[in-house]
Amino acid sequence: AQVATAEFIKSSTKTEECPTDGLPEFALVGRSNVGKSSLLNSLVRRKRLALTSKKPGKTQCINHFRINDSWYLVDLPGYGYASAPQEARANWYEFTKNYFLNRESLVSVFLLIDASIPAKKIDLEYASWLGQNQIPMTLLFTKCDKRKKKKNGGKRPEENVEDFQKLIREYFKEAPPWIMTSSVTNQGREEILLHMAQLRNY
Ligand code: GTP
Ligand code: MG
Repeated sequence: AQVATAEFIKSSTKTEECPTDGLPEFALVGRSNVGKSSLLNSLVRRKRLALTSKKPGKTQCINHFRINDSWYLVDLPGYGYASAPQEARANWYEFTKNYFLNRESLVSVFLLIDASIPAKKIDLEYASWLGQNQIPMTLLFTKCDKRKKKKNGGKRPEENVEDFQKLIREYFKEAPPWIMTSSVTNQGREEILLHMAQLRNY
C-alpha cells in the first residue's frame, strides 16, 4: 500500500459542507493531543500536511485530505479538551456525531488511544458510543515510542494497551481490530495503510 499523492482539499464545519464526490473515507478521531494530525502526516510521509501542536485543540474543523486521487483521510478535532469552553465542547459533540451518523462515504473510524498513559474513561465511553451506533472502528494506539514514566502511571505502552483491551471487552462482544503506532518511528504505518486498502475493497 503506497501513498503517491496527498493533498489538502477542504476544511468543513458541517457534514453538509464536506466533499460530495463520494470517494471512500477514513476518519481519525480521539482525544485532543492524542496525535491524530501527526499520524496523518506519518501515513502520507509529509511533515506538515496536517498542522500539529503541543497545545491541545489545534484541529478545529473536519479536514479532508485526498490520497492517490481515490480516497480520503479525514482529520477531526479532538474531544476531551478540558479547557475548551462549555459551548465549544457541546458544539464538538453536535458536529462530530452528526458527521459519524450521516456521512455515507465514511468506511470506518480510526479511534486513536494514547498508549503512553493509562486508559481514560472518556476513551472507553467514546469507543462504546461508536460501537452502540454500529460505526465500524479500528483502534490505533499512539505514541508507542514513549518510554514508561512515573508521572504517567509507570507502565510501558504495551502494558497500557493490554489494560485498555481488557476494559473494552466489557463493551464489545467482538473486540475491534487494533494496531500499535508511533508517528516518531512510523511504527504501524504499513499495517494501517494495508488495513485501509482492505476495508476499501470490501
Ligand atoms: P488536536 O488537533 O489538538 O486534537 O491534537 P492531535 O490529536 O491532532 O495531536 P497532534 O498530532 O497535534 O500531536 C500532539 C502532540 O503529541 C505533539 O506535540 C506531537 O509532536 C506529539 N505526538 C504525536 N504523535 C506522537 C508519537 O507517535 N510519539 C510521540 N513521542 N509524540 C507524538
Ligand atoms: Mg490535530
